[in-house]
Amino acid sequence: MCGIVGYVGEREALPIILKSLKRIEYRGYDSCGILVQDKGKIHVYKSVESIDYLEANISESEYDGKIGIGHTRWATHGAPSKKNAHPHLDGKGEIAVVHNGIIENYQSIKEGLLSNCVFKSETDTEVIPHLIHQTLGKFDQQTFKKSLIKNAAQIKEAVKDALSCLKGSYAIIVAVDGFDGLVAARKESPLVIGVGDRENFIASDVPALLEQTNRIIFLDEGDIAVVKKDSIYIENSGSEVKREERLIEWTIEDAEKGGYEHFMLKEIHEEPRAIIDTLRGYLAEDEINFGVDFKIDTKGKSILMVACGTSYYAALCGKYIIEHQAKVPVQVELASEFNYSDFVLDGMNVVVMAITQSGETADTLMALKKAERYGCKTVAITNVLGSSATRIADKTIYMSAGPEIGVAATKSFVAQLVIFYLLGLFLSKMPASEFVEHLDELKRMPQVAQMVLDEADVNIQNHAGYLSRYEHVFFVGRGVNLPIALEGALKLKEISYIHAEGYAAGELKHGPFALLTEDTPVIAILTSDNTYEKTLGNVKEIKARGSPVIAIAEEDDEEVEKYVDAVIRVPVTSAIFSPIPNIVALHLLAYRTAKERGCEIDKPRNLAKSVTVE
Ligand code: M6R
Repeated sequence: MCGIVGYVGEREALPIILKSLKRIEYRGYDSCGILVQDKGKIHVYKSVESIDYLEANISESEYDGKIGIGHTRWATHGAPSKKNAHPHLDGKGEIAVVHNGIIENYQSIKEGLLSNCVFKSETDTEVIPHLIHQTLGKFDQQTFKKSLIKNAAQIKEAVKDALSCLKGSYAIIVAVDGFDGLVAARKESPLVIGVGDRENFIASDVPALLEQTNRIIFLDEGDIAVVKKDSIYIENSGSEVKREERLIEWTIEDAEKGGYEHFMLKEIHEEPRAIIDTLRGYLAEDEINFGVDFKIDTKGKSILMVACGTSYYAALCGKYIIEHQAKVPVQVELASEFNYSDFVLDGMNVVVMAITQSGETADTLMALKKAERYGCKTVAITNVLGSSATRIADKTIYMSAGPEIGVAATKSFVAQLVIFYLLGLFLSKMPASEFVEHLDELKRMPQVAQMVLDEADVNIQNHAGYLSRYEHVFFVGRGVNLPIALEGALKLKEISYIHAEGYAAGELKHGPFALLTEDTPVIAILTSDNTYEKTLGNVKEIKARGSPVIAIAEEDDEEVEKYVDAVIRVPVTSAIFSPIPNIVALHLLAYRTAKERGCEIDKPRNLAKSVTVE
């Protein structure tokens, strides 16, 4: 849940580490820290403020050094504070570690193996440098100190020794005073190496490195790497391994705001592009192709989707889409619940699909592993190349939304829907003419999304000004638009801090009606489908209780205006495709409302982009 970076080369490390950290500050921002190593001395600087603040408070002349590590923190063990900020050091201040993940057995290590060490923080991480120190202490100190530069092997062994004591997950970078390299290792947390010219980089996420290099090596589960300025040595299970270097096509501009005030707004505006790119990945000349080895024999089989947060709502929408198009039963489970439930997988003819933008959500990865243990076929649907989900699942379907930096998921949700439309059609046995109709409409979705961005935004801005004054809002929808109401509510609450609840339109009368007053606006999704009349009936009931209603309705709907206070118009589509224009409108509504309220849109409080703890 934190971001980590490392540099070793011929340039000053400090500005490079600062720049790289800023790119991944979204991974956690409750404190940060940097270490720079300079000819036998290490300098550490920490802050509970932003990385900008940290930068402003270090004078570059104070620190020079060609090796550095950095960390931006999302607290799991120990409150956000300077003493808990990384890097953490051993007792002698010679070994420093930045860590992303959780060490589950740190307490027993402190009380057992390290019972005579003095700890300066409340973190789980601090045991790692102490453990490394203990092993290094077993080597002959004098010889070791004299030939430290040559002692990569000993340092690597000491890191391995330390890691063998740990239970939990980690991506770590270790710096040792006087050593001309860094050691990196991963278990259940992502870690990549950026390859440069007489310099190399390490980071938890690719965007951290794009300004420096696009030559990336994705470390695999259990890898440990010794990274020097002109060499990269990777080992797994005691033997050297070669990992492929990949060229990443995301430009640095892709990962930056591109002129928009916030990443979230930029990413909403990239929704049409995300649809085009995702379609392009699997659609050629009206044929849907998920790759040669991708076959789902739908006979007697069902699909089980596991996911969290926005990806869970996308999966719920996927259920409606795939059941409508392919007539294959789909069940959707929250990954965090599925992992501890008695869900019967034994003997079930089920394909398990994990839906996860980041591919790193701990609950979702656990669910994938559970499915694997039961011998189910597994598929990861993710946005992140080489992410952990792709390593666990039998097969990966990539959405091509590009890097999503805003904590609030937007374009990845739309890309997930596109994958479900493609899957629904791929698995369907519908007549050719119907198939072509669906495909044609799917291909029209980038324009439809663009029309919402171009035509509805001004109107949405007015409604956002109005909505921003309230503290409680309901979102209602039915059928395929129920998950859209749920996602609309999640988006609003997460970035504007307005209490928002998504509900099935027909369910309000079974309890929540008690909450309806003139101070609880309701956003009602009114798509012209077989649920329209019923939803309109619910809207009338809501109005009778005094709540203001804003409808999301199609351009040609002349009826709706009579019953609601305001309408946000979206282009006409067939019902099954209506989630696309509706969600673009609701993403904009959440963004504009949060902006009216002056909220920290890209970094909402208490949240982080990928939730790598259960
Ligand atoms: O990376 P994932 O799709 O697995 O992430 C799941 C959720 O943590 C994520 O969708 C979260 O709910 C978003 N912040 C919502 O905008």
